[in-house]
Amino acid sequence: MTETGTPRPQTVPRTLALELARVTERAAVAAARLRGKGDEKAADQAAVDAMRAELAGLPIRGTVVIGEGERDEAPMLFIGELLGSGEGPEVDIAVDPLEGTTLCAKDMPGAIAVMALAERGSLLAAPDVYMQKIAIGPGYPAGIVDLDASPMDNIRALARAKGCPTDQITALILDRPRHAGLIAEVREAGASVRLITDGDVAGIIFTASPEETGVDIYLGTGAAPEGVLAAAAMRCMGGQMQGRLILDTAERRRRALDMGIRDANRKYELTDLAGGDVIVAATGVTDGSLLRGVRFRQDRIQTETLVYRSEAGTIRRILGEHRRDFGRS
Ligand code: FBP
Repeated sequence: MTETGTPRPQTVPRTLALELARVTERAAVAAARLRGKGDEKAADQAAVDAMRAELAGLPIRGTVVIGEGERDEAPMLFIGELLGSGEGPEVDIAVDPLEGTTLCAKDMPGAIAVMALAERGSLLAAPDVYMQKIAIGPGYPAGIVDLDASPMDNIRALARAKGCPTDQITALILDRPRHAGLIAEVREAGASVRLITDGDVAGIIFTASPEETGVDIYLGTGAAPEGVLAAAAMRCMGGQMQGRLILDTAERRRRALDMGIRDANRKYELTDLAGGDVIVAATGVTDGSLLRGVRFRQDRIQTETLVYRSEAGTIRRILGEHRRDFGRS
């Protein structure tokens, strides 16, 4: 609402929410056709092709800010690519047509197709480098955890704010050798650690509903594009998140600089990662705790999609039924 009580003009019209669901549904079905085939690249490419085809018809003037990579390394959905029908609002687009390529190739839980659409200039245009991330769900005082505090201090502060002992806190962390010290310290603080092999967009989303997921905090380092997508979802759900790009080589700093990032050590707050009005859609590829995977029935294809909108805080779970040739015509 504006100060005069009239509804604020929507910079990202809410009618686009369903359009986004269609985009991620189509990408998810394309990837799911290659589920369990052991070919990560083919599944990813199928999802990219499907997402791009669907995005082309959307009534937007979109610019990809999080995509498949920088222009010279990605033939499609590259950062800076203009997408949409050329009519409608100017928006930033962040895509991960197949989040969890390995999960899809091995038909393991948790692969999703995910994208976000936001007011032009409001998503961080980040290079595909690592990002240190921390996230907790809604309902806590601002700033009770911090990227620069020790894991021990963060766990203790979170437990205090939750009103429970530290042994009732669960931290979700990507299972990587680089996290050995972090995992040890979180356990030393008394908390439990839930490890995931891949898929930290969903991992961060889990913190927004701890009673359902059992996850109170996300800690660790994952990919930066996934960090921006997760931040977009957190904006809609009301949690807290911070991120810092890991620009530890001259080449990475140069790539970041090319994208307008001058301060290589900057700590990004949630709204620096994803500000303004934002819509996020995610469709399950393989079965997971967040979303059910694509089901290929005799005559129909079934999908499950979540659509989040920051302006109203709406979260919709959409069950799709499609013809068997969905996305092929
Ligand atoms: P991909 O779908 O690109 O394989 O990413 C999966 C993922 O697990 C992300 O969720 C996470 O941010 C990133 O990989 C972590 O990177 P790495 O596997 O190099 O540790």
